[in-house]
Amino acid sequence: MSDSIVVKQNESKEELYASLIPQIEALVHGETDAVAVISNIIAALRQGMGWWWVGVYFVKNDELILGPFQGEVACFRIKLGQGVCGTAWKNKEALIVDNVDEFPGHIACSSSSKSEIVIPVLDKNDNVLLVLDIDSDQFSDFDEIDKNELQKVAALIKNVL
Ligand code: SME
Repeated sequence: MSDSIVVKQNESKEELYASLIPQIEALVHGETDAVAVISNIIAALRQGMGWWWVGVYFVKNDELILGPFQGEVACFRIKLGQGVCGTAWKNKEALIVDNVDEFPGHIACSSSSKSEIVIPVLDKNDNVLLVLDIDSDQFSDFDEIDKNELQKVAALIKNVL
């Protein structure tokens, strides 16, 4: 296992993902423990992309509950339909928010968070197992490229659930 994630400066978003995702695949290859794999994926995403906050919330009963993350402390529990995470869970769809202050019900864990993307991970019966939540300290930091590339990361997480 490589002990660090290497990404170059000043590369396009596409180039960053093209470099980062194979490194994440190699990093988690052969490991089957869900929390271990998710923890290292989160660390690699934050280290590679420089985002403000990266983490997951697990669906447990009727709530999302905080799982492995990197960044500032965050809220423990989120209800279905609440905030960006709860909305992505309810709709079973990835959600991009360009300005979190304009999103009704947004849960502000940090005033530094400006934009957000949430990717739900679904099982084969279409139930949401967890959501991958990423916050940026820049407005409009996420787009369709992130959505598509992060679906590949979601697939790696799904493999170990
Ligand atoms: N902002 C999220 C809550 C989680 S934090 O960003 C870590 C939301 O509105 O769902």
